[in-house]
Amino acid sequence: MQRRCIDANTAVAEISYALSELAVIYPITPASPMAELADELSAKQTPNLFGNPTKVVEMQSEAGAAGTLHGAATCGCLSVTYTCSQGLLLMMPNMYKLAGELLPCVFHVSARSVATHALNIFCDHSDVMACRQTGFIFLCASSVQEAADFALIAHLGSLKAQIPVLHFFDGFRTSHEYSTIETPDFDELKSLIDKEDIARFKTRALTPDAPIQRGTAQNGDLFFQNREACTPYYLAAPDVMQSTMDKVSQITGRKYRLFDYIGAPDAESIIVIMGSGATVAEETVLRLQQNGEKVGVVKVRLYRPFSVEAFTDTLPLTCRRITVLDRTKESGATGEPLYLDVCAALQEIGRTKIQVYGGRYGLGGKEFTPTMCLAAFRNMQQSAPKNHFTVGILDDVTHNSLDISQPYHFSTQAWTECVFYGLGSDGTVGANKNSIKLLGNLKGLFAQAYFHYDSRKSGGATISHLRFGNTPINAPYLIETPDFVACHDKSYLVRYDILSGIKDGGVFLLNCPWKGMNALEEHLPAKIKREIAEKHLRFYVIDGTGIAEEVGLRGRSSTVMQAAFFCLHTHILSYEQAITALKKQLEKTFANKGEETIKRNFAALDKAKENLQKIDYPSAWKNTEKGLALPPRTDGEYFRNFMLPTLSLKGNDLPMSAFNADGSVPTGTMQYEKHGAPSHIPKWIENNCIQCNRCSFVCPHATIRAFLFSENTPLPEGFTTLSAVGVAGARFRIQVSPYDCMGCGLCADICPAKEKALIMTPSDKLAERESPLWDFAIHTPTAEQSVFKKASVKGSQFHTPLFEFSYACAGCGETAYIKVLTQLFGENMLIANATGCSSIYGGSAPSCPYTTAKNGKGPAWANSLFEDNAEFGLGMRLACDIRAQNGRSVWIIGGDGWAYDIGYGGLDHVLASGENVNILVLDSEVYSNTGGQLSKATPKGATARFARGGKRLTKKNLGLMAMA
Ligand code: COA
Ligand code: SF4
Repeated sequence: MQRRCIDANTAVAEISYALSELAVIYPITPASPMAELADELSAKQTPNLFGNPTKVVEMQSEAGAAGTLHGAATCGCLSVTYTCSQGLLLMMPNMYKLAGELLPCVFHVSARSVATHALNIFCDHSDVMACRQTGFIFLCASSVQEAADFALIAHLGSLKAQIPVLHFFDGFRTSHEYSTIETPDFDELKSLIDKEDIARFKTRALTPDAPIQRGTAQNGDLFFQNREACTPYYLAAPDVMQSTMDKVSQITGRKYRLFDYIGAPDAESIIVIMGSGATVAEETVLRLQQNGEKVGVVKVRLYRPFSVEAFTDTLPLTCRRITVLDRTKESGATGEPLYLDVCAALQEIGRTKIQVYGGRYGLGGKEFTPTMCLAAFRNMQQSAPKNHFTVGILDDVTHNSLDISQPYHFSTQAWTECVFYGLGSDGTVGANKNSIKLLGNLKGLFAQAYFHYDSRKSGGATISHLRFGNTPINAPYLIETPDFVACHDKSYLVRYDILSGIKDGGVFLLNCPWKGMNALEEHLPAKIKREIAEKHLRFYVIDGTGIAEEVGLRGRSSTVMQAAFFCLHTHILSYEQAITALKKQLEKTFANKGEETIKRNFAALDKAKENLQKIDYPSAWKNTEKGLALPPRTDGEYFRNFMLPTLSLKGNDLPMSAFNADGSVPTGTMQYEKHGAPSHIPKWIENNCIQCNRCSFVCPHATIRAFLFSENTPLPEGFTTLSAVGVAGARFRIQVSPYDCMGCGLCADICPAKEKALIMTPSDKLAERESPLWDFAIHTPTAEQSVFKKASVKGSQFHTPLFEFSYACAGCGETAYIKVLTQLFGENMLIANATGCSSIYGGSAPSCPYTTAKNGKGPAWANSLFEDNAEFGLGMRLACDIRAQNGRSVWIIGGDGWAYDIGYGGLDHVLASGENVNILVLDSEVYSNTGGQLSKATPKGATARFARGGKRLTKKNLGLMAMA
């Protein structure tokens, strides 16, 4: 066995590669790394256990991958695929076929939410649960180590049971968690292979040498009996999987049962759960047991076939109550899937006195912590427990969530816990992956790392959670009370509560350009100063951004910060040893970026120690009120109640009532984010400018714009302008929005002026100066510009973009096109967006980059799926055509009187327009509205005129109005 610090995706990919002849892939987050790694191993001609490189084939979709895999398995090829979420759902038809034809193969799934009211790339079990009826064996791992072990069990068990296996583990939470684990080496793997199982599978291969026919059509006389003929395989499968687990444990030493029970032998309250939540529950139970509590947890390993016998055998006879925690929601069902299975199992075995409660947790990657687990125990121990509850959110609508206001923390003294706040794509996550590999591979040290980030590829906050210590780490949840906090982006000081949990006497490392106390006094927010002093923090600063800039790595401060981290942890590894190891890692990490990049990173490493500065702050900081404040942002209701908490990383605290039930959000809200200025922003040198507007045209974020003002407009100080070329009596200006700019520099690159009219300049003072000028520019009426053709590079840029400040990667090559589309056609745009980058930067709640013109019109946007946006768009087109043909329709949702008038701004708006209107009530009755009279007919040319008179419109009063 090899001891290594790796993530579950890597462990599973390596093991499955070794055990397969063919991998058919179609990567999807967060399963992509498995497919990509298999591809990489194949490209390097790495031999599998059968002596050949595993063939990797990438298909056009998950449906294609499943179809190909089905064909391969039919013809006797040991096959594997990796997927999750919608991707898995697209594979379902073939899953039925594979199981129906008893074809062994393995699907490794990093379980992830299925898109409903919103896309979510994070973990829950809604994808796998949607496939539980396909006939696959379902094996669930609850940690990185288990994912490695179960990958092996899945491949061996599938061949023995002659049933395909779906092996799943929690997406991101387990798939992307780094942990010190053991993986079998090649010879050990080889020793586990049962050649007879493979031979049996191969002899069933479809071949013209011994032809048979498979997949026929059967009528009602035959289908049912034949469908049932597979039953013996399913009856045998639990034993087969158990014996496979036992066999694997002979080399790993780790024993698994189909259902593992942990807890008091005389437990009365038991939680049943699967996935990473089971590890949390196990740790919680062990702590509660130390206090003599009669509690236990059943970790579900083999979910399908669900062995009633194996399940009930694990339950202590003392069990009086069970809470089943499901990580999925099945709207309208009597309970979630695992809950129903447990109820049915207890019923079958006659243990009906046990009270069973169901609860949902962790949807869409929501944390599941010991506090939540404890709440589930306390709930079932009450006289009137909640059933079908939620835990982890505040349900102030149906009032069925559990109270988690009392935190339940374990003492974690055996581990050092570190949190790093990075800016998406500054390299912090990548650097911390390297750090944890370094630590986790040290003898006697156990390490764990989890990287918390959103679905944006760049610009969002990344938070790396690293734990290490001399005992194994079973804590699949975020660090709440770190010993060390590093802040890699100074703007976070005012935006996030980065020091709220840090332990007394902990270490705070800040990347900032401020050297010396005076600068720190000026720039640190008062709250940060107070926290530093109150918690007696050891406070260090380093100008990581400046050093990175100096060595030619603009925007990539992570290497400097990584070196500073090791400099502060020399009790684990001497600084020299750390630097030597980091250099080796850098060579590997950036091998594909060339020698120069590696050299620059080496230079960054070498400069870290001498620039790291310990700050001896005054104790008066404890009470200070002086310091930097957040640049002013809007104070609208939506911003205050919804956006601000989310942007401050406090979205978890939002109650259910804060959301629209259908998931819709208003547009035009990205302007409120103001993420803060990047290190450099463009400075306009007006005298060099030739007024071509190219800078504005190429800007992917709509943060630099061309303006024309009448020469009579009073201009604020510093708002320099040029006499506009081609428009008499007008002034021209290029203006940047400093706190929205991403600092990509495309504008300066494209500027064709002889002497550049835009120069990327340190933002510190410039941003402060430009911010009010931007506000002035966008709020001041502009001069007539119809002299320029709208459909020209120059002319288009005088039209306000209705797509702005998107969080696309700095310098994105797509968004400039979307922006110009909105400048040309924005007021009439209906967008059917495919899932992908454009749906992430175009529709990541809470902020929407699509906005409206002054008349309230603008792009209306919706996203269906990755693969169907053309069809989705066709539906929109057809609806528009039909509505145009039939007159506009208003849907009244009965009862609450809320009118949905897609794209037309509500009932009042339509009525005020005086147009021909149809009103459709719930049951599709069509009313027309003529001179304030409603009738069922749809007379041509009818005009809409009636007052709502402050009354709520309901079906009933609509009817009354119709009669009046
Ligand atoms: N020197 C040179 N280049 C460096 C560097 C250094 N010290 N540090 C980073 N870089 C480069 C990286 O190689 C990478 O280059 P590439 O874009 O050519 O690959 C780039 O800078 C960004 O680095 P990255 O490692 O991605 O940044 P990060 O550590 O901040 O991590 C992620 C950012 C990975 C968390 C984030 O970008 C991400 O992927 N989020 C998830 C998005 C997602 O999955 N969405 C789902 C859509 S359905
Ligand atoms: Fe002026 Fe350069 Fe912008 Fe053209 S690209 S408008 S020259 S700043």
